[in-house]
Amino acid sequence: MSEKILGLMNTHNCGELTVKHIGDKVTLCGWVNKYRNLGGLHFIDVRDKHGLTQLGFENFRGDISKLKEVALEGVVKASGTVIARPSEAKNLEMKTGEIEISVDEFEILSNSDKDRIPFLPFAKIEATEDLRLKYRYLDLRTERLQSILKKRSDTTIVIRNFMALQDFVEVETPILYKSTPEGARDYVVPSRVHPGTVYALPQSPQTLKQLLMIGGTGKYFQIAKCFRDEDLRADRQPEFTQVDIEVSFATQDYLRNLMTALMPKIFAGLPADFKFPVMSFDQAMNLYGTDKPDISFDLPHIDVTSLFRNSSFQTFADAACNGLIKAMFVPATTGTFTRKEVDAFVDVVKPFGGKGVAWFKVAGSEVSGGISKFIDGDLLAKMQTLSKESSSNDGTWLFVAGKESIVHASADALRRHIGKSFKLSKSGYHFLWVNDFPLYEWNEDDKRFYARHHPFTAPKTEDLPLYLSGEQASLAKCRAEAYDLVCNGYEIAGGSIRIHRQDVQAKMFEYLGMGEEETKNQFGFFLEALKYGTPPHGGMALGLDRTIMLIVGTDNIRDVIAFPKTTSATDLMAIAPSSPSPAQIKELHFSWNK
Ligand code: AMO
Repeated sequence: MSEKILGLMNTHNCGELTVKHIGDKVTLCGWVNKYRNLGGLHFIDVRDKHGLTQLGFENFRGDISKLKEVALEGVVKASGTVIARPSEAKNLEMKTGEIEISVDEFEILSNSDKDRIPFLPFAKIEATEDLRLKYRYLDLRTERLQSILKKRSDTTIVIRNFMALQDFVEVETPILYKSTPEGARDYVVPSRVHPGTVYALPQSPQTLKQLLMIGGTGKYFQIAKCFRDEDLRADRQPEFTQVDIEVSFATQDYLRNLMTALMPKIFAGLPADFKFPVMSFDQAMNLYGTDKPDISFDLPHIDVTSLFRNSSFQTFADAACNGLIKAMFVPATTGTFTRKEVDAFVDVVKPFGGKGVAWFKVAGSEVSGGISKFIDGDLLAKMQTLSKESSSNDGTWLFVAGKESIVHASADALRRHIGKSFKLSKSGYHFLWVNDFPLYEWNEDDKRFYARHHPFTAPKTEDLPLYLSGEQASLAKCRAEAYDLVCNGYEIAGGSIRIHRQDVQAKMFEYLGMGEEETKNQFGFFLEALKYGTPPHGGMALGLDRTIMLIVGTDNIRDVIAFPKTTSATDLMAIAPSSPSPAQIKELHFSWNK
């Protein structure tokens, strides 16, 4: 039992009084959830995040007419005695439903403007999300958001305790810093003292945690804020939180073992399968068309490209020569599609560049519909061998064909769509490690490589000769010592073993197209640090917001952040970002175009 600290205005919260407290003198404070005047009998339900308690005013000696002023969502304080409710008034569904407070003293601490309040947080009809974000403090009064905040707090405490037991040191790193590239744009803060210069907010503490390793910290962690100016999605925020980790002398195995030991602590009591299979990036792309597959259901992609090289179906013959053809077989026992449903698949793949979804059905030895006229018995038999579906051959074949990246993304979207439509997911949490990522991504538009993880990630040891050769074709084949943790289709953590050799790191910047001058300006300090004794090291970062999203079962990241931003990176409540004042513009030596 923790020590009780005295000095609060209330003696109890609004959700804890029961028949055990009958006869006790208590004081409650909270928000007015409901007010009823039943022919002169007055009742108020007072609420806080713990629950509701009924206040009765039968024995109230004060001015009862004052109660007329009480508005819903006003804050009140009531003192009195806990009494049993008459049996007909008992509400056994409520924890406090067998008692009420017979109020002696009552005070409105802060009333609510009932004519102006934009919405009542406990109203049956929910306000729009924009309105709830504008008045976030009202929405925060709901049990849902309070329980999410509590879960988030409990989870960070579990993480801190776990990390401390593993001998990690929590270190805070600066927010006003220099660019730490993670593939997004930086948020920058102009300096008043040094005209014409800016700080960049860290996209993650990546270089800082590596410098901590060079500085001998050994095992670092931080619940760190990260800032990224990038296109936002349902699982992305411009500022978000990572459980950031770095370890000296660590292998990939150590970091994976650390996370697989941490996950059961974080997901304790939840239906999770703590098996953690490992899949290479290539396997993940071949089977699911994505590096973060949801393995809570089957329905793998089947590469049928080679089977259509000589097809009389010209679209597929072309795709087989210049691209990729991925199929999925949906057994009739899993589900069947109406013609309308099949036709609507085009809308699923369109956002990913897909032009359409080809299909045909199989029943016994008969094929029908869609592209069935191009499918002979021999081709069907070959496809069925590839599909490895042993239970039955009856069902629907679906195809996406074209450029590799489009086919992967479209077939992934189609797989997720079908998974959702037929509720194929096994319940609970299903983890997966994905590793052996390519070190680089080639960008055809600006004809250069980008680091797939970040520029500090080491090539796999066996690919180091490819890396050192510096040839474009070899670099394209180079794999990274990088690993992601995926849960139910969300990438919840990512990390890598780092480059600890100065010459290898310098080459990385060169391969990424950075000139000598740019490298020196951006990362000169870091390259220098690598010269004076760098322990081999690696780390990773767990996305705390995404992890909490999974735990509380929401697909909206805003639900798990107390004061989130919209998808256009604005705070609707305080209205941020906002124009700087003329004085700030002057101080910061800006010229400003509105
Ligand atoms: P990475 O960029 O993969 O790695 O990020 C790690 C994890 O952070 C979460 N995440 C986000 N969550 C919410 N909103 C965002 N905009 C967002 N971006 C990323 C994801 C992701 O898996 N420095 C490296 C880690 C390392 O190498 O140690 C890094 O930041 O869950």
